[in-house]
Amino acid sequence: MDMSTKGRALLKVIVLGDSGVGKTSLMNQYVYKKFSQQYKATIGADFVTKELQVDDKLVTLQIWDTAGQERFQSLGAAFYRGADCCVLVYDVNVLRSFETLNNWHEEFLKQADPIDPDAFPFILLGNKIDVDGGNSRVVSQKKAMDWCVSKGNIPYFETSAKEDYNVDEAFLCVAKTALATE
Ligand code: GTP
Ligand code: MG
Repeated sequence: MDMSTKGRALLKVIVLGDSGVGKTSLMNQYVYKKFSQQYKATIGADFVTKELQVDDKLVTLQIWDTAGQERFQSLGAAFYRGADCCVLVYDVNVLRSFETLNNWHEEFLKQADPIDPDAFPFILLGNKIDVDGGNSRVVSQKKAMDWCVSKGNIPYFETSAKEDYNVDEAFLCVAKTALATE
């Protein structure tokens, strides 16, 4: 039997963003195909795993959901180290959650301290595009994409954890981007 591990990969993914943007919901939709309207703040951090096939590789994503609420953030640098990808999430209906992306991005790089910060794979998700049929969004797609370009061409997806829109696509991109940078 072929005991080679060449065809496998374990990727550590960290999900960051303001409280309430839908980090836990995106993860639950992706891994369990479930959505709840009820808000339950994440405390500290927890991970789930999901296996997916990317070309000829079996990839296990170890997805770390973190707390957006400051008082529940108790993660040290050791937690971020060894990450293969960072998923930043904001809510397209909440300007503040977009404005804080710079802080999340900067803080992640500071803590994770990757060898080549400019090449580290990030993905940006603009979540809750379903709200009010898109009429209450305050951050345009262009504005988000400009931000992504300014950070070295970060891939961008608009998602709805509620309606399961673009969620699989976004996490497939996470896996591919992380693999490409390995
Ligand atoms: P913290 O754990 O505090 O950092 O928050 P979070 O980012 O994990 O947010 P969470 O997933 O708990 O979602 C917050 C609220 O937004 C919940 O009431 C969800 O039901 C709701 N929500 C999440 N994603 C969507 C979405 O795509 N559309 C809509 N309409 N509501 C969403
Ligand atoms: Mg949460």
